[in-house]
Amino acid sequence: MSQIENMTGRNQSVVSEFLLLGLPLDPDQQPLCYVLFLAMYLATVLGNLLIIMLIRLDPHLHTPMYMFLSNLSFSDLCFSSVTMPKLLHNMQCQVPFIPYADCLTQMYFFLFFGDLESFLLVAMAYDRYVAICFPLHYTTIMSPKFCLSLVVLSWVLTTFHAMLHTLLMAQLWFCEDNVIPHFFCDMSALLKLACSDTQVNELVILIMGGLILVIPFLLILMSYARIVSSIIKVPSARGIRKAFSTCGSHLCVVSLFYGTLIGLYLCPSSNNSAVKETVMAMMYTVVTPMLNPFIYSLRNRDMKGALGRVFRKNVSSFHL
Ligand SMILES: *[C@@H]1O[C@H](CO)[C@@H](O)[C@H](O)[C@H]1NC(C)=O
Repeated sequence: MSQIENMTGRNQSVVSEFLLLGLPLDPDQQPLCYVLFLAMYLATVLGNLLIIMLIRLDPHLHTPMYMFLSNLSFSDLCFSSVTMPKLLHNMQCQVPFIPYADCLTQMYFFLFFGDLESFLLVAMAYDRYVAICFPLHYTTIMSPKFCLSLVVLSWVLTTFHAMLHTLLMAQLWFCEDNVIPHFFCDMSALLKLACSDTQVNELVILIMGGLILVIPFLLILMSYARIVSSIIKVPSARGIRKAFSTCGSHLCVVSLFYGTLIGLYLCPSSNNSAVKETVMAMMYTVVTPMLNPFIYSLRNRDMKGALGRVFRKNVSSFHL
């Protein structure tokens, strides 16, 4: 911040807003894409709200797995709300500017909910690991207190991480180039525009990115490896069916989320064209949050049962 003041004192130009170029679309594709994104965003919001509501209303779903799922839905909902409304708004207006402070705020919440999702996926993998490998101790290990601490820990870690990157970003100054070739204030796109030295930022991104992406990913892999090995040791048709039905959908989400993130951040960016980067970003900001509720729950028997119960109860109370 002081650097920025110094620079203004010396009468240099300081960027006070950025131009979000948005998606690389032809003008005639624009209306169709607008409708498509709007539909996807609405599906995300409604799908996730439905899940949160169902889990809240149905006492059968007051178990650790569904509590984590409800938290995941909440974080999906917020994650796509950080970028999508702005994208939709920008597709409508001629000069899609975003003020400096808004840009940093968007970056903060993007990191916050992105990491939160990552930590919640770990908690869910651990939950499945305990459920399948220690079924008799499940209720004692996954006590409500322990689950709450896992959720609180996720919030604390993700606050720290997002704050660290945002504060480091606020130290940089931006002088002339303010065009972001992206549809949101992406950290790496912002770093490319900075006029001051970004070495520290890049180092922190590398270290923290490694910790925040790779450690959760390894923990999840470890949980599933344990699950698979425990099933192989005592093979039974029922056990295999149970494991596949609960873990198959988790693995889908995990590979979707980490596949795109790791592809984006850990592959050398020199051969990543801007279009490829944007498409990948679309994948995890829009597609993953939209698909999560459907993958996790709507093909799940408990959730379908809950849907039936909640609606029947409401209809009958309506008649009374
Ligand atoms: C998140 O999980 C905690 C602990 O299991 C639970 O108490 C809380 O209600 C959940 N939050 C949401 C939004 O579902």
